[in-house]
Amino acid sequence: NSAGEKQLSKEDQELVLSLPRVKNWDYPFLYQYQGFWCASEFFHGILSFQRHFQAKDTDILLATFPKSGTTWLKSLTYTIANRSRYTLENSPLLTTASHDLVPFTDLEIYGKNKFSTLEHLLTPRILATHLPYASLPHSIINSNCRIVYLCRNPLDQFVSYWHFISKLQQAADPVSIDEAFEMFCQGVQLFGPIWDHVLGYWKASLEKSNKVLFLKYEDLKEDIIYYIKKLADFIGCPFTNEEDAQGVIQEISKFCSFDNMKNLQVNQTGKLAWVENKLFFRKGKVGDWTNHLTPSMSKRLDNLMEEKFGESGLRF
Ligand code: A3P
Repeated sequence: NSAGEKQLSKEDQELVLSLPRVKNWDYPFLYQYQGFWCASEFFHGILSFQRHFQAKDTDILLATFPKSGTTWLKSLTYTIANRSRYTLENSPLLTTASHDLVPFTDLEIYGKNKFSTLEHLLTPRILATHLPYASLPHSIINSNCRIVYLCRNPLDQFVSYWHFISKLQQAADPVSIDEAFEMFCQGVQLFGPIWDHVLGYWKASLEKSNKVLFLKYEDLKEDIIYYIKKLADFIGCPFTNEEDAQGVIQEISKFCSFDNMKNLQVNQTGKLAWVENKLFFRKGKVGDWTNHLTPSMSKRLDNLMEEKFGESGLRF
């Protein structure tokens, strides 16, 4: 039993055991809770976050599907929001991983009962989650706090996740990409199915465009300057004309770029409680799936996406 499982009350243990579950290649079992798949060790944090979290109107929640660029979004948002506190030369990101500065509220803060972290976060509090929109705590939906959602082409997300877990497990005999792909296509994915996750935030962003900003990894890669401005406007810290003229936006884009972040010592050798920081930096490219998936695999996933995203107008 992991620490997360041990902390569950008897009622919550019973709740988890009553859920549909499947064996999977990433975690021994995934449990289907509120329509998404979740590992047992995460329930303590998620249930406690859902029941107790009190959002503030000034909060900024970064919501992502795993392996969609969370690490990048955390550095960008943290840097934009705190630019009057820290110059880039003094940025805490130079010595502290973005996952420590912008913690996963459910998995890290509530999951490890680190409630004092919530009090010590700078204002605006920048928080993170992988939960689907429909499973967010009510106070997030009902307050004026803002949500920034980042997703990624499922083909690349799958390839990134498969590499990440294979490295994390350090198994002598890692699961084959074909086996993992089969489960993925069946929608058995941590916090997934990805299509439901993406569509949940997509619809919310259409209904409440002041509350939810919907971003795609591929778009950020293509025009980071435009999206840094957009992100700054959305979180209420727009750049002044003076900053723009001084090239502040370009500097932030370079500071948070894959190459710069990957090469920082903290990201080369540091470790979060659960994983080495360097595992969050692999290639940082769009379209790496072409190096790992066969044409028939990509065709299958394209068809699935066509079916799932169909009328929404969403395309990757
Ligand atoms: P790849 O495995 O395709 O390289 P997450 O942060 O959600 O865990 O996502 C990890 C993915 O984002 C990895 O993708 C990683 O390399 C990429 N990534 C990390 N930092 C990045 C950055 N600063 N810019 C662009 N991509 C980044």
